[in-house]
Amino acid sequence: ARTAAVIPAAGRGVRLGPGAPKALRALGGTPMLVHAVRAMAASRAVSLVVVVAPPDGAPEVRALLDDHPLTGHDRAEVLVVPGGETRQESVRLGLAALPADVATVLVHDAARPLVPVDTVDAVIAAVREGAPAVVPALPLADTVKQVGPRTGAAEGEPELVTGTPERALLRAVQTPQGFDRRTLDAAHEKFAAQEGEGATDDAGMVERLGAPVVLVPGHEEAFKVTRPLDLVLAEAVLARRRA
Ligand code: CTP
Ligand code: MG
Repeated sequence: ARTAAVIPAAGRGVRLGPGAPKALRALGGTPMLVHAVRAMAASRAVSLVVVVAPPDGAPEVRALLDDHPLTGHDRAEVLVVPGGETRQESVRLGLAALPADVATVLVHDAARPLVPVDTVDAVIAAVREGAPAVVPALPLADTVKQVGPRTGAAEGEPELVTGTPERALLRAVQTPQGFDRRTLDAAHEKFAAQEGEGATDDAGMVERLGAPVVLVPGHEEAFKVTRPLDLVLAEAVLARRRA
């Protein structure tokens, strides 16, 4: 049975500011998505990568990936499919493209281009050892506050704090998240109708199915490129690796 990676890359990257879709922005001169595909293919276990392109951008993404072929140890088959309006929908469309012989699936954000292969391998190993869902996670540096839902009348007024969860019991989660393929398919089938804004991670949907989700150590370099400052950090990490 094969291990495949689905890379949702259909987002616009609104928080990064104006420009090309986030996954297509350059990092060290190479599109972020290409880094992400290489990061998955760097694992010897991964033989297939499904890239989920913007809904109307599949041909462009296919051409871009053909311009940056995988080589040597990073060889893997790469499929490109069009995505959807939410991350959840994009992942579901990527899962639908997986062949029947895929038993383990990773879901990895294109926006986490620098995840080290050791993290990828640790996630795969934990799934193969029997966990239905595996998530790389790190402790938080910041204390987190819960806030009350804002009513229309309260627009413009300061937010009110409703609680402070104990920081030691919180984790920031990353990708790739790894799954028993049937479990993830079942979660996406069950919750497809309730998309709305969509789930922001896949393990959360598996939790709602009632299946256990286990953690493995995450990595600082698996951070998500979300805001402009993250691009500065990503360029610095790349430069350090190349030095
Ligand atoms: N994603 C996707 N399809 C969507 C929305 C997001 O495939 N409709 C992907 C993004 O391309 C990204 C990953 O989900 O690789 C994580 O999402 P995020 O970091 O929020 O990226 P964007 O949605 O592009 O950014 P923003 O929310 O700032 O617009
Ligand atoms: Mg988003």
